[in-house]
Formats: sequence, C-alpha cells, structure tokens
Amino acid sequence: MEHNLWTRERLLEFCETRLGGCKFIVVANREPYIHRHGPTGIECVTPASGMATALHPVLAATGGTWIAHGGGDADRETVDAHNRLQVPPENPQYTLRRVWLTEEQEQGFYYGMANEGLWPLCHITFNRPVFRPEDWEHYREVNELFADAVIEEAGDGAAIVFIQDYHFALLPRILKQRGHGKLIIAQFWHIPWPNKEVFRAFPWGEELLDGMLGNDLLGFHVRLHCQNFRDTVDRVIEARVNQDLSLITRGGADTLIRPFPISIDFAAHERDSQSPEVEAAMERWRERLHLDGRKLGLGIERLDYTKGIPSRLQAIDYFLAKHPEWRGKVLFVQIAAPSRSSLPSYQMEEAAVDALYEEINAKWGTPGAPAIILLKQHHGPADMMALHRLCDVLLVNALHDGMNLVAKEFAASRCDEHGVLLLSRFTGAWRELGEALSFNPFAIHEIADALRMALEMDEAEQRRRMRRMREHIRFNNVYRWAGKILTALLRFDLPEFDYESNDASALD
Ligand code: F6P
Repeated sequence: MEHNLWTRERLLEFCETRLGGCKFIVVANREPYIHRHGPTGIECVTPASGMATALHPVLAATGGTWIAHGGGDADRETVDAHNRLQVPPENPQYTLRRVWLTEEQEQGFYYGMANEGLWPLCHITFNRPVFRPEDWEHYREVNELFADAVIEEAGDGAAIVFIQDYHFALLPRILKQRGHGKLIIAQFWHIPWPNKEVFRAFPWGEELLDGMLGNDLLGFHVRLHCQNFRDTVDRVIEARVNQDLSLITRGGADTLIRPFPISIDFAAHERDSQSPEVEAAMERWRERLHLDGRKLGLGIERLDYTKGIPSRLQAIDYFLAKHPEWRGKVLFVQIAAPSRSSLPSYQMEEAAVDALYEEINAKWGTPGAPAIILLKQHHGPADMMALHRLCDVLLVNALHDGMNLVAKEFAASRCDEHGVLLLSRFTGAWRELGEALSFNPFAIHEIADALRMALEMDEAEQRRRMRRMREHIRFNNVYRWAGKILTALLRFDLPEFDYESNDASALD
C-alpha cells in the first residue's frame, strides 16, 4: 500500500510532470485567508470551513490561483492593483484572487440563493428552502462575475478550472459559452445531492442542471449522490444518461460523474497535533475545564442546522436521565462557530441550542460543574487539536453531511489511539469509517445508546477501532482526492479518451 500513497510531494511531482504548462485555477466562494480590521490593526484569519481546509494543501502543492469572494472588511486594502495577493501571507505558495460583490449581490447570491435555497434543498433536513426570483438573478449575475475573473486569470493558455460547490452551478456552462477553448472544467459538489423527487421543488431546475452539465467532470463525495444526480438529470432535462458509464451527454458534450471522497492532509495534521503549541493549548483547556477525573465528550462544528446540535443536547439529556450513574462523571464541550447568522433559520437554530443548553445544565449541572460548556466562537486549529486529544468521545451527529472532515481530523489527532468516534449514518464519512459507532441522527435514543457504549468501551477496543480509522485516512488523504480528480481530468484532454477502460471503480 505504501508505494501507492499520495503525498504532497507526489502531487507536486504529478503536477509538474503531467500538467505541463497548464494553469490550475480553483474557484470557491469562501477565501482561505480573510483580512479584517481588528483592535490592533489588520488581522488575517482563516475561515471555519472544511472545504477551505481541504483545498489549502492542494493549492499549496500545485501553486496556481484561488478565486474567491473578498468578504473581509480589510480585503481591499491587502490586494494589489489586479485584486491579487500571495498566500499564506507569512510563506507565499499560491495566488488568491479576490472578486468583489455588492451588498445586494452577497445577500441575493450567498445568503439567499446558495444558503436559503440550495443548502436546505440539498441537505433535506426538513428546513424549508426559500426560492426568490431576485436571488436567482443575483446568483446568475455573480456566476458571470466569477467567469470574468476565471477568463482573466486563464489568459490565452490552457487551464484546469476546478470549481467548488453549490455557489457556482451556472459557472461551468457560462465558461463553455465564453468560447475560451482551452479550459478543462471540473466541479466538486461538497454537499449532498438530493433525490429527484426533492429536486422537483427547485424552480429553475433546467437552467441549474444545464449549468452543471457545462463541466467535463463533476464530482460528489459518494456514489449515492452521483446516482441521485444522474436520476435527476434523466427526469428533468433533455440529455442522454448512461448509467453504466456514469456519463451524461447533452448537446454533444460529455460530463463524467464520479465519486471522490474528500479528506484531510493526514500527515500534516498528525504532525501538528503533536506540536508544543498544541501541548500548551491542552494545558490551557485542562485548567479551564476542571475535568477532575470526569470523561470528556466533544462536539465541534459551525452553528448550522444540518449538524444536529439540538439533537445532540437532547441525547445528552436522555442519556443522563436514563443512566444516573453517569451524572457528574462526564462533561460535554460544544464548540459552535458562528455561521450565516443573519439568516432567520440560523437564528432559530441558535435559539434552540441556547434554550436546551440552559435547560440541561439547570437539570444536570451543579454550581461550578456544568454538564455542558457551550462555546459559540471560532477556535483556531491548535485549540481544536488540543480538544481532540483531550476528549474521550467525539460526537458527530449531523442530520446530513456530504462528508464531515471533523471526524477525520479527530482520528488524525489521536496518535495515542484512544478515544471513540460517534458518527451519524447520514454523513459521507460514515461510508468510510466503519469502526465508528453509528446511529440514525434523528433517533435521540440511538445517539444516547451509542454514547453509553463509547463511554464504557475498553481500551483495547478503542485502540483497535482508532488504528483502523487512522490507517484508512492516512491512505485516503486529501492528496489522493486531488490526485484522482486531476488524473481523471487529464484523461479528458485526450481525444481518444477511452471511457470503457476508465470505469468508476478504476478511478475510486
Ligand atoms: O462544505 C460546504 C460549505 O458550504 C463550504 O463551501 C463552506 O466553505 C463551508 O461549508 C462553510 O460555509 P460558508 O463558506 O458559507 O461559511
């Protein structure tokens, strides 16, 4: 297996030898570095985004350009005349090109269409999507704006354009229509794709699908989402869908649909999680949490209704009610990074979390020893790795999640092979990490049962499970994810591309 391991160096070598003079351009709404005005001047922060965490090492290895919305209030002050800057600021490895949006565009494109329309539509967590024609207008407009930036960055030469996520469904078709001729276009959809019945609710379905079929390659995390996408196209739009080859043909052009489960930079994460900085953060957490022999349960996510934080709190309540012997013997820490907080659906989620948090602490906590600590702030990587290493159980009970990288990061932090992962069956990660304790996230009693099993699991069993998960993630790391996508793309460039011999299993 070792000889087949994808590493940063292997990806770099692959790009140097196989991409030739081809530029590598990533388009993602969220930027990897945000500049903001802070109390001591301009600060540079990294966002709470699994997508950004995963893409960063790939860009660092390949060089190239990341085109993103410049959303920070000091972003304009930190770019050059072409709206570019080199990042990471302290050790430049690639170019960040910022695109500017008006407040109305950001509202309609990002908050409205992407996050009140497509996000709930694709996740199916029983949050009703909102579809406003004016948001769709802004969505179109912003996709055009990003196309301008891509064309500018590509220049006259050949480029691979790698588009991220549900913010840019129309961009692939727009790029094809601009007639550049030397662009290979791929898109990775980081969130689930719903079944065809659910997709019927989307008012501009044909236009959206036509946009996505401008891609040469379209990736999802898991096969089920590829299947859902093919079935949706088959039902909604004029196209030939070849289910066996997972290939869709529209207007004479092909789009290959493939699963590529995203991952993390395991080696870097493992190394960083053992650093003196993380050791120091562990010490600070120990002082702050006063564990005094109590076990530690942990949840880390953005405050988003797809993550199921209220269900987790209800499961903790149910668990403590059912198992009095555990009262006062376990502390739960919930990191809930603020996210999209101007949207009513997110405000309602926060209110539900706050109310449950108060209620459960009043019931099961004592003065000075709460049952739950809720921290509604963004925390840096060292703090999160420190918590991974300190906890006994990590709870991931997302109601629906394309992948969930927190689960993978937790395992990568655990060189000691201690700790148990609780993982929702409705995450992409569950399909890979069979040694996690799994459950239906909509069934509170199942989460509570899994929690009890985790807290009572013996050391040898913890080690056995953790070791296997770590091995899996070490091999199936983010460089493998990127390498497989790029390999698939390079084959596209060849006119004699042989689909028969490049079936789905060969690319997995
Ligand atoms: O993974 C889905 C995703 O929307 C990413 O695109 C994004 O970076 C992350 O979740 C966080 O969301 P946002 O960029 O809206 O803060």
